[in-house]
Amino acid sequence: MFNKIFEKKLIIGFGVFLILTVIIGMIGVSQIISFSTIIEDLGSRQVPRQRIILELKNYNSLYAMGVRNYVFWKNSKFLQAASIASDIDTIEKNLKQFKNNLSFYKTLTVSPEQIELANKIGLMMDECEAIAKKLIGLLDSNAYDKDKVNNLLMLFENKYYTVDNFISKSFSYNNIKDIESQLEITKLKEKTSVIILFFSIFFSLVLGYVIAYYVYTNLKSERQKRELLIHKMIRMEEEERKNLSRQIHDQLSQDLTALKIHIELIKKEVPNNSVSVQERILKCSNMLGTLIHRSHNISELLRPPELDELGLVESIASLVNEYQEMTGAKYRFDKPKSEIKLSAEYSLAIYRFVQEAFTNIGKYAKAENVNVILKNSPNTIFVSVSDDGMGFNIEEYKNQINRRKDTKVKLGIQGLKERIEILGGTFTIESFPLNGTTLTAEFTY
Ligand SMILES: Nc1ncnc2c1ncn2[C@@H]1O[C@H](COP(=O)(O)OP(=O)(O)OP(=O)(O)O)[C@@H](O)[C@H]1O
Ligand SMILES: [Mg+2]
Repeated sequence: MFNKIFEKKLIIGFGVFLILTVIIGMIGVSQIISFSTIIEDLGSRQVPRQRIILELKNYNSLYAMGVRNYVFWKNSKFLQAASIASDIDTIEKNLKQFKNNLSFYKTLTVSPEQIELANKIGLMMDECEAIAKKLIGLLDSNAYDKDKVNNLLMLFENKYYTVDNFISKSFSYNNIKDIESQLEITKLKEKTSVIILFFSIFFSLVLGYVIAYYVYTNLKSERQKRELLIHKMIRMEEEERKNLSRQIHDQLSQDLTALKIHIELIKKEVPNNSVSVQERILKCSNMLGTLIHRSHNISELLRPPELDELGLVESIASLVNEYQEMTGAKYRFDKPKSEIKLSAEYSLAIYRFVQEAFTNIGKYAKAENVNVILKNSPNTIFVSVSDDGMGFNIEEYKNQINRRKDTKVKLGIQGLKERIEILGGTFTIESFPLNGTTLTAEFTY
């Protein structure tokens, strides 16, 4: 249930994160696209426009020069140079180039102001052309009035300078202003792109942090819940074992002992000459003795009574004495000065740890010396058992463990390790053939 809600929240969180990142990314990309469009526009439209303005000026002056030369040539038949530069075709060609450039300029222009200015130049040029045509027509007629020619030439010159001036000042100035404003927009776009980029990075970092924090706190609380559950389960199991152990000890053992006493009494009442009956009763009594002993052992296995009666340190001390007597090896117990206060599941885990280590030493180690250390500091408890016996190959042992089926109940070292890790402790084992074995466990709380 908890996991499902968490998963759902996580998916929603990631979804929102993804959507927002995509939106911000799209804004950033659109900014960059429009930024590059403006730059492209500057390259493809503004620059040719400025070039055309120069061309317009150029053809305008070429055209005017042609007309002027025509006048000079007609006025003085000797000016050969003027005749070359005043060919009607060239004059018309320059005018045509001028007009072509102007109409091409209009196709490149988006601002209505620029189009208006271009139209104005067109009209002015039309007037200029009309004057030039009149002038040429007059010159071409064999009998022309010199004063009229001079007047028309002056009019033409005036018009030409007006056009030229207009191109240099209003027209070119306006175009440059346009380019400048485009550049301003570009700068602004660049600024916004950078701000959006910074914002998106910041936003992603904050959101990433929030999600990571959310995942972390959820996992942490889930782990804490699981740990609490495990502790509860272990405590319940211990409680159960304790009850069972008490029942066996207090009920079964007492009843068996009472039965044994009764049988002893019956034995006394049976005449001594009934040998076979006496023998049977003796057998029953012996069997009952064994049963009492066994029930004692079972109850001890379920929950060593010493743990509750003596406490952890003294229980281990009693184990040390017991195994020393049993194995004949020399046991040293480095114990804390006072009893350690631990909850039942921890003290039992440590007790079982020492018990298993001692059993293994008794079974396999052939050790001469065994060292037991139990230490506790304000928030850790450390226990180790080391021997100087036969040792074994840990890698081989691990391979054996891996080959076993998972469903099999894990006992011995493996079961010990799992029990300690379930309680949040760490378990280590060190062993080398002929060089002894050391088991350690540590709990931090
Ligand atoms: N102190 C030791 N010295 C030498 N060999 C050891 C020692 N402790 C364990 N071993 C080796 O490691 C193996 C695994 O030990 P473990 O306690 O897991 O299993 P076990 O004692 O064989 O069986 P169980 O403990 O389940 O009754 C043993 O079979 C033994 O070969
Ligand atoms: Mg064992």
